[in-house]
Amino acid sequence: MNILFATPECAPYVKTGGLGDVSAALPAMLASMGHDVRVLLPAYRGMKVAGVVGDSVDLPPQGPWPAAQLLPVRTESGLTLFLLACPGLYQRAGGPYVDQSGHDYGDNPLRFGFLARVAAQLGTPASPCAPWRADVVHANDWPCALAPLYLAQARAAQPFASIAASVLTIHNLAFQGVFPMETADLLGIAPHWRGIDGVEFWGQLSMLKAGLQFADRITTVSPSYAREIQTPEFGAGLDGVLRAQSHKLTGILNGIDTRAWNPAHDKLIAHRYSRADLAGKTLDKGALQSQCGLKPDPRAMLFGVVSRLTSQKGIDLVLQGLPGLLAQGAQLAVLGQGEAGLHASLAELARAHPSQVSVTFGFDEALAHRIEAGADVFLMPSRFEPCGLNQMYSQAYGTPPIVTAVGGLADSVTDATRDPAHGTGFVMRSVDAAGFDDALRRAVAAWREPARWRRIQGNGMARHFGWDESAAQYAEVYERAMRSIGVTTGTAPDRHTH
Ligand code: ADP
Ligand code: GLC
Repeated sequence: MNILFATPECAPYVKTGGLGDVSAALPAMLASMGHDVRVLLPAYRGMKVAGVVGDSVDLPPQGPWPAAQLLPVRTESGLTLFLLACPGLYQRAGGPYVDQSGHDYGDNPLRFGFLARVAAQLGTPASPCAPWRADVVHANDWPCALAPLYLAQARAAQPFASIAASVLTIHNLAFQGVFPMETADLLGIAPHWRGIDGVEFWGQLSMLKAGLQFADRITTVSPSYAREIQTPEFGAGLDGVLRAQSHKLTGILNGIDTRAWNPAHDKLIAHRYSRADLAGKTLDKGALQSQCGLKPDPRAMLFGVVSRLTSQKGIDLVLQGLPGLLAQGAQLAVLGQGEAGLHASLAELARAHPSQVSVTFGFDEALAHRIEAGADVFLMPSRFEPCGLNQMYSQAYGTPPIVTAVGGLADSVTDATRDPAHGTGFVMRSVDAAGFDDALRRAVAAWREPARWRRIQGNGMARHFGWDESAAQYAEVYERAMRSIGVTTGTAPDRHTH
């Protein structure tokens, strides 16, 4: 199958969260299963990608978009990227979505409309990379969510052409790409696609809604989140649309990259260790304590957080629950960046308890690994969590997590109180301060019983979180999407693969 995986971020070149990890690992696994996968990604400023293969492809100016280029690149990990080079849109100081002061770029509709447009074109007979073209275009999150609409428009315009099927994955329903309806003209969305059955969302244009309406199949990143987003509580205003489209919707739990996140081989941590021999983990705790300026005390229970600092992640619950623990001599190491109010409260806590609380603001891949390895317990009390990767990393690193029972957290952590034989962490009974305190108390009690703690650690480390099963499920979704519109690979006379 020829698969185009369209995404606004891909690790290690550009990553703001879990989507970056998924965009590296899932296409690689699909490629290893024999599919021909290309990852379409904007060429942002400062991205270091070596090894252009083949000739670049010129894209002529179209609509509001200037001339651009597609640069095929084969990465060290064997992945083929199509970098979308359009300096006016993507070569900027700041991140993929926001400028240096954290404000959305004003022309995001054009920036990501273009990404979606080119993704769709790669699935049509007029593919700019012909003879290569996609059988299925896999669009990720709102920045790519117009691709299914553009493909549907292409099908309407050319009913007899063979045009790719579309799959949209929701990584986070909280981000929807909502813009004034006037942008529909610019983006080439014909008037009859702008109604309530099209892109319209409370009078505005919603890119994510466009994807939900027009994708042949929709996935999200855990089975529980697939159910939750069909309810008003988790639906972010789109639960009605999702209920109406539920026949197209599947939840597939993310995997983790077991080469990058494996304590037996991890070069970013000070000491390597395994389920059979945890001695290195004890040394990693000491190394983390000294790196973070915490008191080097093996008997102090050390809690870790690696997170975007936003209300989604329940950091306020951590703030509420910690004074009690600190009074008992526990320690906390936090790495993250996000909302100013949470920065201020965390900085305050660190100032008040310098030997017990360490807070690092910023994005630091190595420290993220060291916290996963060196902490005793990982904290992730998210209010909602489409999948979440850190709770899986922490189980693989023998660092049982405290989590809420939502989304991918519910699907990947087994509560050690409820199921002592198989438990891998502590699941909060309610998403509030009382639920957090109760889970903390249970974790502390278990940690004080070394044999019991080792069993919980061992259960987590024995879990299989690889991508193989999930990638196979994606391949099935692609097949179903293609069947639903009558596309079959390699059969159309005008189709070539290489
Ligand atoms: P989300 O995508 O909602 O932020 P996930 O748990 O799916 O949450 O993925 C977050 C990813 O980003 C993980 O790989 C995590 O280690 C990483 N990460 C988050 N914050 C930081 C940070 N400040 N420094 C380094 N890595 C981080
Ligand atoms: C989003 C979600 C997170 C998920 C990630 C990758 O950022 O918040 O839960 O793991 O996407 O799918």
